[in-house]
Amino acid sequence: MGAMTTSQKTALITGANKGIGKETARRLAALDITVLIGARNAERGEAAAEELRVGGADVRFVPLDVTDETSVQAAAQHIDATFGRLDILVNNAAIAAGPQEPSETPAATVRQVYETNVFGVIAVTHAMLPLLRRSAAARIVNMSSELGSLTHLADPDSPWSAYSSILLPYCTSKSALNAITVLYANELRAEGILVNAVSPGYCATDLNRHTGIRTAEEGAAVAVDLATAGEDGPTGAFWAEGGPIPW
Ligand SMILES: NC(=O)c1ccc[n+]([C@@H]2O[C@H](COP(=O)([O-])OP(=O)(O)OC[C@H]3O[C@@H](n4cnc5c(N)ncnc54)[C@H](OP(=O)(O)O)[C@@H]3O)[C@@H](O)[C@H]2O)c1
Repeated sequence: MGAMTTSQKTALITGANKGIGKETARRLAALDITVLIGARNAERGEAAAEELRVGGADVRFVPLDVTDETSVQAAAQHIDATFGRLDILVNNAAIAAGPQEPSETPAATVRQVYETNVFGVIAVTHAMLPLLRRSAAARIVNMSSELGSLTHLADPDSPWSAYSSILLPYCTSKSALNAITVLYANELRAEGILVNAVSPGYCATDLNRHTGIRTAEEGAAVAVDLATAGEDGPTGAFWAEGGPIPW
């Protein structure tokens, strides 16, 4: 059977060698989806793919540094040549900087975080869209955060305000990601491509030096729900586990 005619779904997850991305990969693979572990480091990416293949899941490493246009193009070409299309894209890779007061934060620090969390998402989405358009039910899930919620950031009494006051690059990168999610969703709605932002909750990962109160596995659940949503599923929405949350 040719690659274009297979009903087996293929998902790409960026930054999937550890943390919430890896757990999202594990859950999607358990649903019998072919999962591509996008990782910027070959050793870490191969190790994660090997770990997730235990039990017979189809999990493969794809070299992918979301800040490197050449790497992004190569990943798209590889997926095109191997599968002919892509069904699910989870833009998960992200970094943080700080902690630092907004007034102490130089533009260079913000720029560096945006390279991964904002421009990386746009570069990967742009490169993968031709492949997603060949899917019968394409889904894009952007891993955002409630720290990007302007509703929360604007409320000095919210539990997020302590973090948002020292994490300008990260918080605002996720606010931008949320807006980007809505614009892609609006453009792609007529084509049946559903695009959503999700918040995994505060999960213990390397990103927060394992201070999170949820597990990465728990954090992955909402991403999997939206990555596998039916054609009546939401688009242009911001969800945590259990339903929509304020922008
Ligand atoms: N943990 C939380 O409480 C929490 C809460 C809200 C939202 N989130 C979001 O959830 C997502 C996953 O975060 P996490 O907590 O699982 O963090 P993590 O454990 O630090 O994982 C981040 C992943 O992104 C990868 N990455 C970073 N820069 C990359 C690049 N340029 N190209 C490709 N991959 C890159 C990392 O790869 P390396 O191993 O090579 O560094 C790693 O695999 C992020 O979008 C984060 O903002 C997390």
